[in-house]
Amino acid sequence: MMEITCIFMSILMIVADGFTVHGPSGPLFAPLGSSVVLLCYVNELLVMEDLEVEWRRTDSGTLVHLYQDGESRPEVQQQDYHERAHFFTDQIQHGNFSLRLDNLRAEDEGRYTCRVYSQQGSGETVVQIKHECLLVSGSDRSVSAYDGEDVTLSCSVDSHITPEHIEEVLWRKTDEDILVLLFKNNKTLPDTSDERYRDRVELFTAEIPKGNFSLRLKSVRTEDKGVYMCHVFAGGLSANATAKLEQLGFSAWHITVLIFCFAATFGAVLLFCCLNYYRSKNTVTSSIIWNLQVSLVFCPNICMFFAFMLWGFTEGSLHETVTCCALYFLRPVMLIWALRYLKYLQDNLKSWIRIFRITREFAVFMVFVYSVLFTYVWRKRAHDTDTKPRIFSAVLFGIVVLSCLILSIVDVSRCPSQERPSGASPCNQTLGCRHKLFIFCLIISILSDCQLFQFIILFIPSEEIFVVVFVQPLLLICIPLLPHLQAKLKFLRHRWITLLWIITITLLDIILLIYVLLATLTREREYLEWTCVILFIEVLKMIVVFKENVQEAERSVVERRRQQTEMSQEGSNALSRCNEIMFMFGAVGLVLLNSVTLTAELILKARNGERVMKDLRVVVFPSECVFALYWLVLQMHAFWRSVTSG
Ligand SMILES: *[C@@H]1O[C@H](CO)[C@@H](O)[C@H](O)[C@H]1NC(C)=O
Ligand SMILES: *[C@@H]1O[C@H](CO)[C@@H](O)[C@H](O)[C@H]1NC(C)=O
Ligand SMILES: *[C@@H]1O[C@H](CO)[C@@H](O)[C@H](O)[C@H]1NC(C)=O
Ligand SMILES: *[C@@H]1O[C@H](CO)[C@@H](O)[C@H](O)[C@H]1NC(C)=O
Repeated sequence: MMEITCIFMSILMIVADGFTVHGPSGPLFAPLGSSVVLLCYVNELLVMEDLEVEWRRTDSGTLVHLYQDGESRPEVQQQDYHERAHFFTDQIQHGNFSLRLDNLRAEDEGRYTCRVYSQQGSGETVVQIKHECLLVSGSDRSVSAYDGEDVTLSCSVDSHITPEHIEEVLWRKTDEDILVLLFKNNKTLPDTSDERYRDRVELFTAEIPKGNFSLRLKSVRTEDKGVYMCHVFAGGLSANATAKLEQLGFSAWHITVLIFCFAATFGAVLLFCCLNYYRSKNTVTSSIIWNLQVSLVFCPNICMFFAFMLWGFTEGSLHETVTCCALYFLRPVMLIWALRYLKYLQDNLKSWIRIFRITREFAVFMVFVYSVLFTYVWRKRAHDTDTKPRIFSAVLFGIVVLSCLILSIVDVSRCPSQERPSGASPCNQTLGCRHKLFIFCLIISILSDCQLFQFIILFIPSEEIFVVVFVQPLLLICIPLLPHLQAKLKFLRHRWITLLWIITITLLDIILLIYVLLATLTREREYLEWTCVILFIEVLKMIVVFKENVQEAERSVVERRRQQTEMSQEGSNALSRCNEIMFMFGAVGLVLLNSVTLTAELILKARNGERVMKDLRVVVFPSECVFALYWLVLQMHAFWRSVTSG
């Protein structure tokens, strides 16, 4: 009896194993709101009689759908699935018991069991539904780096979505909302990166197929400190991860900048004290004083030049670096030129004055500034289809360089008044010098026009600006015209009218320039910075113009002027004291101001990760303008005196 039972059971087992229920090979991924077909089928033909198919949630046992006695039984089904679960009754005869679930909800995620009972036995399969989702992971720990190092900010996609289907990966700096890198349609788009990050960021190309979108940030700067977000978009989904970058401290470059700033400050103060000490002692020879004076003129400025250059390597923008370096490179020229207005050291100075001319400083500085401006225009207009503005701009730049070259040469060949034999004053030589003055004024006018046109091309202002282009050179011509007009019109010889004439022309020139700058630059990011630089150039230009005119006017009244000098030298003690103070302000005060500003900026930036002052030009050039303005006033005064004495 036992044996019979055993055999019967075995037969039953074999029958029960007569079919296998199949399901999908892996979990089903579907976005919320969509429909998904839960596969469940057998490959054998089953007897339809007494066939029962039951779909349940595996964990809770909730009945999702029941097929019994040849029909669906909605009354026993959970209410929630009443409308959403669709059973393919016509497919049953093919052994297909799949279920479609519509309007997928968050709570539908989970396992579903499909159980099939028939006369041949029973079987089941489990189907898993997962929400389609995108998981992006960064790293929990923040990344630290020294300035100048390279770092990797990690970001990888962990999901069933294959990397080919990722539409867009966006790296942005969240605290400042700057686009760092954009990866779209299988490509990195370097042009969309913010200027600050251009050419410094990349993805690991070999890692992308693995879903690794880590970012390599090269030569980290202090302002890079902050939080970065990696934003991934795929198939209507998006996810993000953050990575934090921390700074550790100064790099070797920064320390070098600090050392140069310190050397400039310390050197300037030390030399200034020594100079005053030796000058108060009357026993010291003038050569020692001269050496100290030359050191004071050169050393601090050269130190500042290097400091600004290194600053440019690590932090500064191109425009800032080039203009500040050019200024500090040329400052000794201006200081040596200004030395002649001090009462001592005149003998040592003579051989130096021939080389260090203010006109040369002006010319060289002009070329530097305009090369920067030119590259800016070139880049800004690089994407224009119209090439005319670029060609025009290049031609203007060529004219500027050529004019500056001529300016230096005309200056060299000028006949300095000291070398003129006092007795003879041949007419033709005076005439030659007049021609040169005319050429000089012409070139200066051309330069002014080139400058204005460059701005007009760059920033496309309104039409009234064009009037200024013609008015400004006319103003410059008015200055050498004054002595000629005086010869014809008597009332112009009045001292106050002359003074008014000079001041009006200078002020008009500067006001017109400011007007042009304001009208053209306001929409630019660097408008304040450029305004400061251009104003400084304008002051230099006016100094040069007045200086040349003074020389010319002095030459034509050379005899009378001799007496005048002797007379005025007695009464100008106060003036020479003032000159000395202004000279020291330029040689020591400005160096101190700028080196302290640079040091403070560097330290604050290393601490906060962002610049306090957007640009150092805002400090460097206005303070330099104050210094230059003093010498401009001095030149205007000299011109006024030489004209009224005639
Ligand atoms: C079962 O039927 C569903 C709905 O028509 C279909 O999508 C699925 O491919 C079928 N499965 C098989 C194995 O035929
Ligand atoms: C990205 O490239 C892969 C192959 O490298 C390709 O299969 C996929 O379709 C591409 N994706 C896009 C959005 O072009
Ligand atoms: C991604 O690639 C980078 C560079 O090879 C590697 O350092 C990083 O560990 C990778 N991240 C993951 C999650 O594999
Ligand atoms: C980043 O993802 C979180 C959720 O993971 C989300 O709350 C946040 O809004 C997302 N941030 C952005 C900028 O999309």
